[in-house]
This record gives sequence, C-alpha cells and structure tokens, in this order.
Amino acid sequence: MGMGTILIVGAGGRLGGVVARRLLAEGTPVRALSRTPAKLADLRALGADVVAGDLRDPASLARACAGVDAVLAAAHAFVGNAGGNVPAAVDNAGNRHLMDAARAAGVRHFVLMSILGTRPDHPIDLFRCKHAAEQYLRASGLSYTILRPTAFMELWAEIIGGPITHGQKALIFGRGVNPVNFVSVADVARFAHLALADPRARDRVIEIGGPENLSLLEMAATIERVTGRTTGRRHIPLPMMRVMGALARPINPAFSRQVRTGVLMDTQDMTFDPGPTLAAFPMTLTRLEDVVRNQYTSAVAVDGARVGS
Ligand SMILES: NC(=O)c1ccc[n+]([C@@H]2O[C@H](COP(=O)([O-])OP(=O)(O)OC[C@H]3O[C@@H](n4cnc5c(N)ncnc54)[C@H](OP(=O)(O)O)[C@@H]3O)[C@@H](O)[C@H]2O)c1
Repeated sequence: MGMGTILIVGAGGRLGGVVARRLLAEGTPVRALSRTPAKLADLRALGADVVAGDLRDPASLARACAGVDAVLAAAHAFVGNAGGNVPAAVDNAGNRHLMDAARAAGVRHFVLMSILGTRPDHPIDLFRCKHAAEQYLRASGLSYTILRPTAFMELWAEIIGGPITHGQKALIFGRGVNPVNFVSVADVARFAHLALADPRARDRVIEIGGPENLSLLEMAATIERVTGRTTGRRHIPLPMMRVMGALARPINPAFSRQVRTGVLMDTQDMTFDPGPTLAAFPMTLTRLEDVVRNQYTSAVAVDGARVGS
C-alpha cells in the first residue's frame, strides 16, 4: 500500500496492538506511543519505533508526530479516575492536542477511534468527550476518518467467560436479557487499517458493529457451549447497580462510570445493524463463537492481539 510511518497512540491497547501488528506484517513503518514504553517490548521486537508520550503532554505529541504520514488515535480513559487520566483530559483535550500536533507536523490523515452513540448530552462523560473530539477533528482541516465501534467482543468474552473457564458462575450485570451489539477487535482493526490506507474512507464517519446482537445471558450460553463448561449465573440486580453507580460517583468516578455504563447496556437500545457499513465496505464479520473458540480453546491464542490478526 506504500504508506509512510503510522503513529499509533494506544499501541499497547487491545485494538492498537492488533493494528500495529497488521501494519508491521505488511511492511508499513509503525511508531508506537505509550506512557510506559517498556510495556511495548513485543512491538519493538517486531520492528516498531516505540516512543514515550502522553496525550496530556502536548510537547510529547509534537515529537511523536514529526515525520509521520498518518495517525491512529486509539487511546481512552474509560477506566481512569479523577485527578489523573480522565476522559476530559485524555479523550477530549488529549485527542485535540494530538490533532493540533498532527496538523502542525503536516500529517496526511488522522483516524480517530470514537464509540457508537456519542452525543453532547450523553449521561456518560466518555461519550461526551468522544463527541467533542469528533467535532474538533471535523473542523480541524485535517483529512480524517472517525470510527465508531460498538462494544469490543474480546473484552466482554473475557469479562463473562473468565469466571466460566475457572469453574465459577458467570457474573451478569443486571437482567442480562437486553440485546447488545459486540464487535470483534479483529474486525475493528480491519476498518482502522482501511481508514488509514483507503481514500474512500477520507472525511467519513464509519459505524462498526458485529454480525449479531446478543444478550449477556446469550453470550454466557455461547461461551459455555464452546468451552464445554457449565457453571450457572450470578446476577448483580439492576436496582443495586443504579444505587452503586450514584453513590460511587463522587468517590470513585471510574467505578461509577463503569457501573452506569452497565445499567445503560441492560436498559437502552444497544443493537446495531452493520448492513449499511458493509454495503460501502464489504467484509465478513467475526462471530462470538469464533472469538470464544480462539480465546479459550486454541493453544496459541492467549490474548485479543492474536485473534484473526
Ligand atoms: N473497549 C471497547 O469496548 C471499545 C468500544 C468502542 C470504542 N472503543 C475505543 O477504541 C479504542 C481502543 O480501545 P481498547 O479497548 O483497545 O483500549 P485499551 O486496551 O483499554 O487500551 C487503552 C490505551 O489507551 C492508552 N492511554 C490511556 N491514557 C493515555 C494517555 N494519557 N496518553 C496516551 N495514551 C493513553 C493506554 O496506553 P499506555 O497505558 O500504554 O500509555 C492504552 O494502550 C479507544 O479509543 C476506545 O475508546 C473501545
């Protein structure tokens, strides 16, 4: 494809790691940014130029963008807490600093990892911050692609499947009957790769989801069927989640954010139809069954980074 150096912010993350490996495998130079570069020794061994940086430190972003062809912004602070690495500082201001640095460095194209459902009045701060970053990017003058995936399948297969594979009851957040769209990180990585390389993705918002909408109970049943282990369920009741989410808010915003997101997953419309996106960009989407088989029953797959990459 003949791309120059791609800067990946969040290269140590689930998605960033898979995209970095895809690019390195085809011979595209990768610069991998992390707050803790020592954690990216595996990517360095594969040929990545690993650099230290922080979305909250604009000078580090200017250094990281120098000589770069395109940027993939794949970080987030969903699990971050007050006073430090929070969505306002990372997903909003941090991504805006990165866009400023990219523009100043003359970067050809900027790909922003957003999330499905962003809006300015969303009850969860992460979604509001992603919305602000999207708006800033559209007005930046940079050539851009905004990717809005649904929830990552590998992450949820781990949350629900971890206990099952250890012989414990699956932990279900709420009733667990609401259909939710999950997308494989491998498929999101394909779209990120396409967004970096394909001119058809220029100045577009691409919403990405998996092939099926599944409730958490259906996910647990699929994991049990594929792994051959049946352990039962333990539910955290919805009213308890609502109380925990509200009480924790001033004390532990990150925990509160996760619990309140869990409430939304159990009560809002979380379905998605990948049809329109696939009509523009044909692709065979990965099913949960395949992810679970890869994650839990294959001898080589030890993390999401190897799934379908
Ligand atoms: N997980 C999901 O279900 C989901 C759903 C929709 C969209 N997304 C989006 O997809 C992208 C990738 O998500 P993921 O689940 O693959 O991420 P992840 O595995 O949780 O990794 C997050 C990454 O963010 C980086 N990061 C956090 N704070 C940073 C900072 N201040 N400066 C620089 N980097 C920072 C971390 O890098 P270091 O620790 O190495 O510095 C880490 O590699 C994110 O933008 C996320 O919002 C995720």
